[in-house]
Amino acid sequence: MSMNKIIITIDGPSGSGKTTLGRAISKKLGITFFSSGSIYRVITKYFLDTNSLGFENFEIISYEPLEIKIDNHTYFEKDLYTKELNTKSSELAQQIEIRAIVDNILKFVESSADSGLVVEGRDMGSVVFPDATLKIYLDADEHIRSSRRVEQSNNEETTDDIAERDKRDLSRKNSPLVVPKGALMLHNNTSTVEELVDEVIENLKLQ
Ligand code: DC
Repeated sequence: MSMNKIIITIDGPSGSGKTTLGRAISKKLGITFFSSGSIYRVITKYFLDTNSLGFENFEIISYEPLEIKIDNHTYFEKDLYTKELNTKSSELAQQIEIRAIVDNILKFVESSADSGLVVEGRDMGSVVFPDATLKIYLDADEHIRSSRRVEQSNNEETTDDIAERDKRDLSRKNSPLVVPKGALMLHNNTSTVEELVDEVIENLKLQ
């Protein structure tokens, strides 16, 4: 990691608003936004399609919107946010071998993001980028998170599904969701995105 390249991590449970905040920060600072969950999702999709994880090539063809080629399979962002992949990616993410593959891909993403990177997930500040410029933990009340997720999935993902997924992401043995050391704690209950971005910028100045 270069000395002056900005890396901002955002960790937190599903539906806390990490993607919305991450995109707003990336726009404000002119740095790249990346969702680590998308890599868990695409690898899970490849696994469901081929029943194997022994791929040789992993190529990010486009970042926004995401397009990824794994060997001779091409995947688009819009295909990755299904109810099946919500559950299956969280299950597969428990395996240390999968986490190692994803961590390597994220290090590559970081090295190619010349302007800087804001990256969101569950273990971005705690495990993958412990030396980040600023680590954020974003939370929101459970009923707010679940109504947001139910809405995002067109009512396909129920409150129970979300609770089960969060429980698995929090209690797994490998890289569970935790508050990273030194993280800025933000609550997304009543604040607007602009207020949260302002708070992030203030904290960046202090780094
Ligand atoms: O953020 P998301 O909903 O797209 O993530 C999908 C799943 O991937 C999530 O339930 C758990 C896993 N994941 C993870 O284990 N670690 C990350 N840093 C990001 C996602």
